[in-house]
Amino acid sequence: MKHIFTTYRYAIIVLSSLLVLSCTLQTNKRHYIIGVSQCSEDSWRTKLKAELEQSTYFHDGIDLRIMSADDDVQMQKQQIHELIAQGIDLLIVSPQQTHSLSDAIKEATEKGVPVIMFDRKSDVKDYTAFMGADNFAIGEMMGEYAASQLGGIGNIIEIAGEHGSSPAMERHRGFNEAISRYPGLKIIGYAEGDWKQNSGDEAMSKILSGMHGTDIAIDCIFGGNDRMALGARSALERYSQSHPGALRRMPSSVIYLGVDALPTPGGGIEKVQQGLLTASAIYPTHGNELMDLAVAILQGEPFEKNTGMETSIVTSANAKVLLMQYKEIITQDEYIKKMQTRVDSIMKELDTERTLLFFIVLVVVIVCVSLVGTVRTIKIKHRLNEHLKQKNHELELQKETAERQRDELEEQRDKLIEATMHNQQNKEQDDEMLYDDEKADFRQQNEFIQKFNRAVDDNMSNSDLSVEDIGDIMLLSRVQLYRRVKAMTGKSPVEIIRERRLKRANLLLADTSLSVSEIAYRVGFASPSYFTKCYKDFFGHSPKGT
Ligand code: FRU
Repeated sequence: MKHIFTTYRYAIIVLSSLLVLSCTLQTNKRHYIIGVSQCSEDSWRTKLKAELEQSTYFHDGIDLRIMSADDDVQMQKQQIHELIAQGIDLLIVSPQQTHSLSDAIKEATEKGVPVIMFDRKSDVKDYTAFMGADNFAIGEMMGEYAASQLGGIGNIIEIAGEHGSSPAMERHRGFNEAISRYPGLKIIGYAEGDWKQNSGDEAMSKILSGMHGTDIAIDCIFGGNDRMALGARSALERYSQSHPGALRRMPSSVIYLGVDALPTPGGGIEKVQQGLLTASAIYPTHGNELMDLAVAILQGEPFEKNTGMETSIVTSANAKVLLMQYKEIITQDEYIKKMQTRVDSIMKELDTERTLLFFIVLVVVIVCVSLVGTVRTIKIKHRLNEHLKQKNHELELQKETAERQRDELEEQRDKLIEATMHNQQNKEQDDEMLYDDEKADFRQQNEFIQKFNRAVDDNMSNSDLSVEDIGDIMLLSRVQLYRRVKAMTGKSPVEIIRERRLKRANLLLADTSLSVSEIAYRVGFASPSYFTKCYKDFFGHSPKGT
C-alpha cells in the first residue's frame, strides 16, 4: 500500500514538474526591449515607426518603445535618459543635432547599451552601428540633376535643413560640390529651415525680401527636404502675386527640388506627379531592415557597422509607376496584416489547445497510474485472500481433527465405562440403580430421556458441550449417566447427543435457507467439514444447504 502511494506521489511530482517546465519554456524565450528615440514627429517618421512596429511580427519577444522629441533637443535628451532608465537592451537614435545629444548617447554606450545611429549622425564615435542613406550623395545627385535641367546655366536658391543636423550639412555640401562643377550655375540665395514646410516658406520669404528690382532671376529652388521645397514654392508664388513682373521666370516654370520622396498620400512622389515638385530624392525609411540589424546585434550575430541605403531620383517620368508600386505594396501589407491577425488568433487557440492537451495527458497519466495502483492493490488483496483461505482451510482441518479426536476420546471413555461395569462396587451401585430403573415405570423412563434430550437441545449450539455438562444438569456422574442412558436407549450419551445434533441439522436444512456451515455451527459443530462427514455417516448422503 505504502509502495502504491509512493508511486502516486512520484507520478504527481514528475507531472507537476513537467507542467512548470513547459510553462517556463513557453515564457522563457528571451525578451528584448528596444528603445527608439526620434528627433521629430512627421510623415517620414510616422512611416518609419509603422515599419518598425510591423517588423516586430517577424521577431519574437521584441518590446518596442518609441519616443518622439518633436524637434526639441532637451526633450530628446530627457527621453533617451528615460529609455535607458527603463532598462532598454538597445537604443536606436536619430539625433536632432550632431553635437547637442552626445552626452545622452554616451550615457547609453557607457551603460553597455548598444546604440544604432539611424538617419542622422552624432559626434559620438563609439556607437555600435549606423544605418542611413548617404546624404552627401543625395545632395550631389540633386545638384547634378539641377545642372542637367538648367543646361548648366541658372540661378539657384538653397533652403537647407536644420542647422547642426548631419543630413542638412551633408546634403548642403553634396549639392554645392555638384553645382561648383558648373560655372554657369550660381547659388543666389541660402537660408536654413527646420525641416518643416513652414520653415521653408519663411526662409524663402526672407531671401526674397532681400531681393530688389524687376528682373529677379530664380531658376531653381533646392529644399533640404520636400516639405521645405514646397514651403519655398508657396512663398515664391505669393511673392509673384504681390510683385507682378518682378520675377523673370513664373513660379510654375521654376525647378523645385526636394528630398524624401515619400510614397505615402500627400508625400513627395505625389507632389512630383502633380507637378508641384520637379524632382525629389528618395530618402528611404527601411524600418524593417533597421529592426533586422537591431535583432542581429542583440542576438550576437554578425552585422555591418555602417549600412548605407540606396537612393534614386523621382521625376514626373517615374512618379506614377512608383506610386502604383507603393499602392500594391500597401495592399500586400494589409493582406499580411490580416494574415498576421489571423495567425495571432490561431496561435492563441493553439496555445489554449496545447494547455488543454497537456492537462488531458496529465489526467490520462494520473488515471493510468491509478489503474496500475488499483490493479496492484487487487492483486495483493487476491494474494492475501488466497493466503487467508489457505489458513482457514488449515484451521478448519485442525478444528475437524480436534472435534473428531474429542469424539473419539468420548467414545474411548464410554468404552472404559463399559469395561469398568464389571467392577464390583460399581456393579452393586449400578445394579441398584438398574433395579431402581427396572422398578421405575415407563413413564418415569420417558421423563428421564426427555430431560436428557432437553438438556442437549438447550445447549445444542455449544460445541464444547460434554457428557459431563449434561450429567451436571441431570445431577448424575458421567458413569451413572452413561449406564442409565445406555440401559434405556441402547446408545451412549455421546451417540445420542450427536444424533440429536444431526437430526436438528436435517430439519434446519429442510426448513431454512441457512447454509451448511451456518447449520453446522447452529447444531454445535465447530468444524463444518466434520459436520458433513458425520452427517454423511448418519444419513448416508451429504447435507445439501442453499
Ligand atoms: C524627417 C526629416 C526628413 C529628412 C530627415 C533628415 O524628420 O526631416 O524630412 O529627410 O528628417 O534627417
